[in-house]
Amino acid sequence: MKFFIDTANLADIKEAQDLGVLDGVTTNPSLMAKEGITGADNILAHYKKICELVDGDVSAEVISTDFDGMVKEGEALAALNPQIVVKLPMIADGVKACKYFSDKGIRTNVTLVFSAGQALLAAKAGATYVSPFIGRLDDISTDGLGLIADIRLIYDNYGFDTQILAASVRHTMHVLDCAKIGSDVMTGPLSSIKGLLKHPLTDSGLAKFLEDYKKGN
Ligand code: E4P
Repeated sequence: MKFFIDTANLADIKEAQDLGVLDGVTTNPSLMAKEGITGADNILAHYKKICELVDGDVSAEVISTDFDGMVKEGEALAALNPQIVVKLPMIADGVKACKYFSDKGIRTNVTLVFSAGQALLAAKAGATYVSPFIGRLDDISTDGLGLIADIRLIYDNYGFDTQILAASVRHTMHVLDCAKIGSDVMTGPLSSIKGLLKHPLTDSGLAKFLEDYKKGN
């Protein structure tokens, strides 16, 4: 399973990259605003900085909600760096734009997916990635992980190449559960990745090894 980090925070991105396990970055307008990155030029410059920090894919989201606007914006984003994946909302014009970009060989990430039907449409339109938001479904007492399982079944039934990118991952158990179900990618905060490191027996075991080494030297 690929690990993406879901942030526009450069320090977090660098920390995940330095850990050696990062496959890419996802962002969205809210994450950009959280870092104080506003205005089209600053946002484009920030995407460039992110691309310089990581080796993998960087999802950059369009703001337009009409086909022509999405095509214009998406082409400008894709031209920034070959690592850029154009992120499109799951609306009718987003599906049309997804088909347009996939026909042109420009990679896409269809975002704000909350049902298996939406994921099927994204795959039919040739999306590179589909982003089901599991945390937001859990927030409204709906089964986010169940959606990942349904999409996995549908994509495997028909051999769709679209990769399932479990989004809105909130914690380490989401990461593990996505891996068990067979999600292709997960995107979450740095804490969800670092949480995988932790086990008290690792800490106590290491402390004992170091203590015993000191005794023998
Ligand atoms: C997906 O690409 C989104 O950026 C993201 O995962 C949304 O997560 P949230 O529900 O924590 O805002």
